[in-house]
Amino acid sequence: ATVADLAGRHVVVSAGGTREPLDPVRYLGNRSSGKQGYALARVAAARGARVTLIEANTGLPDPAGVDVVRVGTAVQLREAVLKAAADADAVVMAAAVADFRPAEYAGGKIKKKEGQDPAPLSLVRNPDILAEISADRANPGQVVVGFAAETDDVLANGREKLRRKGCDLLVVNEVGERKTFGSEQNEAVVLAADGGETPVPYGPKEALAEIVWDLVAPRL
Ligand code: C5P
Repeated sequence: ATVADLAGRHVVVSAGGTREPLDPVRYLGNRSSGKQGYALARVAAARGARVTLIEANTGLPDPAGVDVVRVGTAVQLREAVLKAAADADAVVMAAAVADFRPAEYAGGKIKKKEGQDPAPLSLVRNPDILAEISADRANPGQVVVGFAAETDDVLANGREKLRRKGCDLLVVNEVGERKTFGSEQNEAVVLAADGGETPVPYGPKEALAEIVWDLVAPRL
């Protein structure tokens, strides 16, 4: 039987990947499937939490017993996370948030012009939601968890990112063409701000989710 160690807690999980529109038909996006975030939401609900799942572009069905908020862009994700985090005991940012968005949105479809080079794409920075909620905790005991997908120097980059973002836990995984994205499996190391390091062997995303909540629960 599952232990209801998150009973009476409100947790917020973000999942999926933001899409940053260029015009009504095109966007800049990423390959996040949302499966890890959904696994985190399902497991938290099974362990007794009230769960707000903020999903961006996953196309996945709503998990039972979870409040789902749908967003598209990083700016919308930020609004939804800040709102839900106001009374949350823990926030887990599993979503892949675009670092940049097009500086301008064209109200009509951008046309190609014969014989002309394409116009350069100018981008502006998106807000860093994880850094912001870590710095301005809605309540002092709130636990904040981030994810980091790295392609090289995974642990060194992960430790640096944990410090820079200011979160309590950072789940670091190695990604590549054939790794993690869209897969049912994941392999990771969970780094803690207090120095802890928990390796998570290759396995289902549910198993990683259980370990994340095992690490969050005693910190609440
Ligand atoms: O900096 P990087 O994108 O690698 O950091 C990943 C972590 O930061 C994830 O938890 C992601 O949800 C979060 N993030 C964010 N806002 C951004 C970029 C990333 O909250 N603009």
